Amino acid sequence: MNNVLELKNIIKNYPDGQQVNEVLKDISFHVQSGEFAAIVGPSGAGKSTLLTIMGALLSPSSGQVLLNNEDISHLSKKQQTSIRLNNIGFIFQNSDLIPYLKISEQLQFIQKISSKPAIDAKEILVKLGLEQRLSSYPRVLSGGEKQRVAIARALVNQPELILADEPTASLDSKRGREVVQIIQQTVHEENKAAVMVTHDERVLDLVDSVWQIEDGKLKKVR
Ligand SMILES: Nc1ncnc2c1ncn2[C@@H]1O[C@H](COP(=O)(O)OP(=O)(O)O)[C@@H](O)[C@H]1O
Ligand SMILES: [Mg+2]
Repeated sequence: MNNVLELKNIIKNYPDGQQVNEVLKDISFHVQSGEFAAIVGPSGAGKSTLLTIMGALLSPSSGQVLLNNEDISHLSKKQQTSIRLNNIGFIFQNSDLIPYLKISEQLQFIQKISSKPAIDAKEILVKLGLEQRLSSYPRVLSGGEKQRVAIARALVNQPELILADEPTASLDSKRGREVVQIIQQTVHEENKAAVMVTHDERVLDLVDSVWQIEDGKLKKVR
């Protein structure tokens, strides 16, 4: 099967005073459709940097980021924005919902700016168990509910790739597990590719492959 996302020899340097901090050291990675991959590693290892490069939010210092075999790492900012809107769904550590929009409205604004055909946003919210919350504002939702809205929002543009940065970090272990189970189900039922960065080893039984990052180097461990 074809890789939805492939990284080849990614290096990322950040300037650090007179020196450079080499955060990612020659990283290669791949994930296919229908595959849920996890990247684990300690704080500061470079997980978020790697995920933002995967999502065309940040350009690597060198190396290639192939989305459906097309190198997206050296596209213009405008082209990268279009790819993020149409091909990638992001789930962050804190759901980052818009405080003044009702749950039913949180997804519409993505649909407005994305060029994908509109799908029934309410249907996704109901499927994720949020039907009682459609006319609520984010502040009254529990952490787990907010993260489910964030998953729904990541799915509304029907992306082939889902990227999640520590989606369980603000949740207790039961709610965290539920969130990861929802991502797992979506990946398998809808044949999407997903990459989840986490330091929570207890959810790793739910993923199909595991990669470990340490000192800026990535290796496949399962
Ligand atoms: N924008 C930035 N500028 C400079 N250094 C950064 C920046 N973002 C992250 N770093 C550094 O890169 C390293 C990896 O950070 P990060 O990718 O956030 O790791 P993780 O998500 O695994 O905790 C850290 O040493 C961090 O200080
Ligand atoms: Mg991080």
